[in-house]
Amino acid sequence: ELSPIDKAKFAAAKRAVDYVEDGMRVGLGTGSTAAWMVRCLGEMVREDGLKIRGVPTSTRTAELARQVGIEVISLDEAKWLDLTIDGADEFDADLNLIKGGGGALLQEKIVATASDQMIVIADAAKEVTQLGAFPLPVEVIPFGWQTTKALVEEALVGLDVMGRDGSLRMNGEAPFVTDESNYIVDLHLNRIKNPRQLALVLNQIPGVVENGLFIDICDIAVVGHGDGKVEVRD
Ligand code: A5P
Repeated sequence: ELSPIDKAKFAAAKRAVDYVEDGMRVGLGTGSTAAWMVRCLGEMVREDGLKIRGVPTSTRTAELARQVGIEVISLDEAKWLDLTIDGADEFDADLNLIKGGGGALLQEKIVATASDQMIVIADAAKEVTQLGAFPLPVEVIPFGWQTTKALVEEALVGLDVMGRDGSLRMNGEAPFVTDESNYIVDLHLNRIKNPRQLALVLNQIPGVVENGLFIDICDIAVVGHGDGKVEVRD
């Protein structure tokens, strides 16, 4: 028996796979919600003969996709995708997102941007009126990361945010390392008044590879509730 939160995630995933059609090249997101979606797609491949090719957004998702029977190809093999389905850590009314809680933001953003459509799947608790309560992940090159972090914090001066502290994401005693061999600095901003501006400012800083703000990328949000009900926003 699933907990209400898992029921919500599963319900959203289950509804979102209705958008997947035969022959599509599908971007496969990362995280616990996206994992439900990958399992649902695997079942459709195995049991209904659905023919798709999947481009995973992390080594974790690649492994799961293969396990459940989805044909996995690289983004460069696919060139372009019909649809990406992924989770999020926060989403607002404009369908702007914070992603990267699972550390896969870089591949996730590349894949989502290379898709005709992006659908976000989330439990209702992730809907916010203003982004920023969830710490914003910023992927940085390990070389000089402390300097890069200081430059990031300085760049936040004058932007309408409510905190400026960044913390290096850890994996036990060592820095957390992404699939692309980078580090992540989580920014505790609390409130992001202008996410579009912030995303641009962050990506101007040398050493910053990408940030977890997804602006104008997501087209549809499929929102699950603990009772299994689903709402679709677009
Ligand atoms: C992975 O890097 C993230 O962007 C995930 O999409 C996000 O953390 C959502 O994960 P859950 O579905 O596990 O909450």
